[in-house]
Amino acid sequence: MSALLRGAVALLREAEVPAPEADASALLAHAWGIDSATLSRRRLFDEAVPAEITRVFAELCESRRQRIPLQHLTGIAHFRHLELQVGPGVFVPRPETELLVGAVLDELADHHGPGRPFVIDLCSGSGAITLALATESEGVDVLGIEREPAALEWSQTNLGRVSLGESTVEFLPGDATTITQSHPELIGRADVVVTNPPYVPDAAIPRDPEVAEHDPAAALYGGSTGLEIPALIIAEAAALLRPGGLFLMEHGEEQGPGTRELFDATASLRQAATYPDYTGRDRYTVARRAASDGC
Ligand SMILES: C[S@@+](CC[C@H](N)C(=O)[O-])C[C@H]1O[C@@H](n2cnc3c(N)ncnc32)[C@H](O)[C@@H]1O
Repeated sequence: MSALLRGAVALLREAEVPAPEADASALLAHAWGIDSATLSRRRLFDEAVPAEITRVFAELCESRRQRIPLQHLTGIAHFRHLELQVGPGVFVPRPETELLVGAVLDELADHHGPGRPFVIDLCSGSGAITLALATESEGVDVLGIEREPAALEWSQTNLGRVSLGESTVEFLPGDATTITQSHPELIGRADVVVTNPPYVPDAAIPRDPEVAEHDPAAALYGGSTGLEIPALIIAEAAALLRPGGLFLMEHGEEQGPGTRELFDATASLRQAATYPDYTGRDRYTVARRAASDGC
């Protein structure tokens, strides 16, 4: 097995795959139908890989060499404690977005009624944020709103694979930039609105082929500065929140100041503050809706 893995790592490294060792191991485990702990045990004893598994593994490595995302090949994206199904037509959830979920969970832990907390996740994609919140929090109602039918389908699949306990989840087809027009019954209802919207500037084509060629364009590009679509979503989020409710939005590392300006330009969002990701780069901004507008 060692020689097989070494060869695969060399192949992936030559194709400038960012994490060749981790990806080669993940693909071999996937080809073999085993988890990473079992693979590690078999590696320890340098167990022989059956011919059929070797053949499947070689095909997977060739696809990865062509920079097809690892998650499309295994069919799985890990997000917090979830194993989400992903593939063509849906954005692969990113580790930095896990921080956004953590910040929402902190807010929910402080929720002191009346009633159960209600969270809206605008641009819900695979359902990563929605489902992590619903499964990690006891008794929260989460509404995910997504415009793209393919992404919505993946989120429904993922909803069918989790156990919600006391929580509820609904995925609603809808445009997050006009949701208060299509669903006025949601105005002023949410305790928390969270979003990871498309925020890449239109001309800033991502360098990694996995992103540029496989994440849907609708998930990436947010307008000429990247903040045109987020600006519309911020206005909608402010209207969806109840007085005192919290808004959290992910954005690009250079968009903290611009995002705070957009938050400050709303009639009701206050005390905008930006937080870093695991690498120390600005990644999300948080603000609270004033107890009453104009205060
Ligand atoms: C960056 S992805 C985030 C997906 C998911 N929330 C996550 O964090 O992994 C943005 C998502 O917004 C969706 N989207 C783009 N424009 C939208 C709009 N106007 N209304 C609703 N969803 C939209 C895209 O289809 C995509 O699924």
